[in-house]
Amino acid sequence: MSTIGVIFDLDGVIVDTAKYHYLAWKNLADNLGFEFTEAHNELLKGVSRVTSLEILLDIGKVQLTEEKKQEILISKNEEYLSYIKKMNADEILPGAEQLLDTLDALGIKYVLGSASKNAELILNQVGLYHRFHGIVDGNSVSKAKPDPEVFLIGAVKLNLPPKNCIVFEDAIAGVEAANVAHMTSVGIGDKNTLQEADFNFNSLTEIPEGFFSKFII
Ligand code: BG6
Ligand code: MG
Repeated sequence: MSTIGVIFDLDGVIVDTAKYHYLAWKNLADNLGFEFTEAHNELLKGVSRVTSLEILLDIGKVQLTEEKKQEILISKNEEYLSYIKKMNADEILPGAEQLLDTLDALGIKYVLGSASKNAELILNQVGLYHRFHGIVDGNSVSKAKPDPEVFLIGAVKLNLPPKNCIVFEDAIAGVEAANVAHMTSVGIGDKNTLQEADFNFNSLTEIPEGFFSKFII
C-alpha cells in the first residue's frame, strides 16, 4: 500500500457543476430583482449552500427572514437537482478519469472531500461513485471549507497522516482548508486565483507523468 493518498474536491475538479449552481442562483436573484453575474458566482465556489445564500443576499442587499431563507434553499436545490439528474459521464472534466486510472495503477488510494450535500448523487450520475475509497461530503461535516474538517476526515478514511495527503481543489476556500490541514494543495484552475496552492495546473490534463513519485517515501 502507498504511503500517500489523494483527496479530490468534486465540483470544478471532477465535474463542471458550477454552471448548474449558477443557473439556479441566478434564477433566484432574478426573482428577487437583482443582477447576479458569473463573476459573483466565483465567490460561491467551494462554499456551503447556506453560506452561498448569505453571500448572494449580500450582493443583492436583500434581507430575508430565516423562514424565507429556508424556503429559498429548498427551491434552489430542487432546481439544481433537476439539472444534476440529467448529468452523465460526458460531464466528467478532462483528465479526471485518466488521473484516477494513474492512481489505481500506482496503488494510491483516493477519497472525495466535497462541500456538496449532493456529492453521492453526482458521482453516481457520472458513474464514478464506485471508484472512490470513501466519500466525505457536506452531510459529513459540521464546519465548511475553509475549515479543514472535510479533509481531516478524508485523511482518516485514507488511514494516513494529513501530511501524506494531496488535495486537488479549484476553490480558494478549499486550498486554504488543505493548507490549514498541513496537506499538499494542488490548485486546479487560474494560478493567480489559487496562488496559495503548493502546485498549480490549469486542468487535470496537465498533471505530469511522475507527479506523484516525488511524494512517495
Ligand atoms: C461546493 C460548490 O462543492 O458545494 C459550491 O463548489 C456549493 O458552489 C457547495 O455551494 C454546496 O453544494 P450543494 O450541492 O450541497 O448545494
Ligand atoms: Mg470545487
